[in-house]
Amino acid sequence: EKGSFRHFMEKEVHEQPESCQRTFSAYLDPVAQSVKAEIKASVDFTQVTRIQIIACGTAYYAGCIAKYAFEKIAGLPVDVEVASEFRYRTPAMMAGTLAMAVSQSGETADTLAALRWCKAEGLQTAALVNVHTSTMAREADILWPTHAGPEIGVASTKAFTAQVSALLSLVVAAAAQRGRIDATEEARLVQVLLESPGLISQALTMDAEIFKMTFDLSRARDVIYLGRGAMYPLALEGALKLKEISYIHAEGYAAGELKHGPIALIDENTPVVVIAPDDELFEKTASNVQEVAARGGRVIMITDAPQKVPALSGDAAKTLKIVTGPSCDPFIAPLVYSVPIQLLAYHTAVHKGTDVDQPRNLAKSVTVE
Ligand code: M6R
Repeated sequence: EKGSFRHFMEKEVHEQPESCQRTFSAYLDPVAQSVKAEIKASVDFTQVTRIQIIACGTAYYAGCIAKYAFEKIAGLPVDVEVASEFRYRTPAMMAGTLAMAVSQSGETADTLAALRWCKAEGLQTAALVNVHTSTMAREADILWPTHAGPEIGVASTKAFTAQVSALLSLVVAAAAQRGRIDATEEARLVQVLLESPGLISQALTMDAEIFKMTFDLSRARDVIYLGRGAMYPLALEGALKLKEISYIHAEGYAAGELKHGPIALIDENTPVVVIAPDDELFEKTASNVQEVAARGGRVIMITDAPQKVPALSGDAAKTLKIVTGPSCDPFIAPLVYSVPIQLLAYHTAVHKGTDVDQPRNLAKSVTVE
């Protein structure tokens, strides 16, 4: 069933051009260059004043990525919270809030309990799930399916990018319904989304380059991931992936937070992975790279703009390794740059000889709290 792949995770990483394409096919109309009418009919975003996303683990990070896009493009406020906190803290909910559970399995106990609480509060509820017959799918008012197909690896990969694909499609729907974009801009954004499976394929060709980085990484005790904007939740996701399957301690930080504490951790033994596609925040992230390199930190920078990275002098120059990824519209960068992050964790774990598909202490579906 794994075909020529060594692990299900590796297979699932490589399936992402198709799994994202399948998900887009359910949400987008390539001929009309718009979000499908049936998706727009499933919700009236003009009546929604706020979205509350509830999720756990990787699904939570997909929600955090969506927040950046919903607020910027659709002008819609979004809160994202891990379900285990949300369900026990008596949150203050306003009428007009759409509660959205994001879950691969649709069975995660905390997410389900949070969804039920929202429903009992009288809120409109939606389930964005990969298992279309799951409890969340049945109980929510709206079902927004992802089409990743069955995911076997405990570490979520293709389910994550399918979630991001569906969420970004919903951002376009919300922006169009709310009059934040016209038909021309909707067509452009749909076009950009439909280009992402091809760019994910291109990102998969980074495999050999990423592999080379992981000899070093597999010897580290701690690894720091940095990103700005939507690359910040991707940094958190990258750190989670590495922790889960390689058992190396990793932390993700917003790059701008570096000087508020984590920079104290930087030394030659703590590799720093920087996710920095070329966008409006690139220069700021590049200057964080300089700060790290100047303190002897070893940096793996993943970017499509190596020519824009300021030249480093002396020893600092030797500590910076750049891996070049495909150029893309910033709207889909979280999808495209998921791939090198997943490959980095995967190859590191393979070097360490861990059980990649069944990491210790973890279950695929957490149906108890
Ligand atoms: O099935 P769900 O998406 O609700 O699962 C949520 C988390 O348990 C899950 O994403 C977990 O963090 C993964 N092992 C991450 O790779």
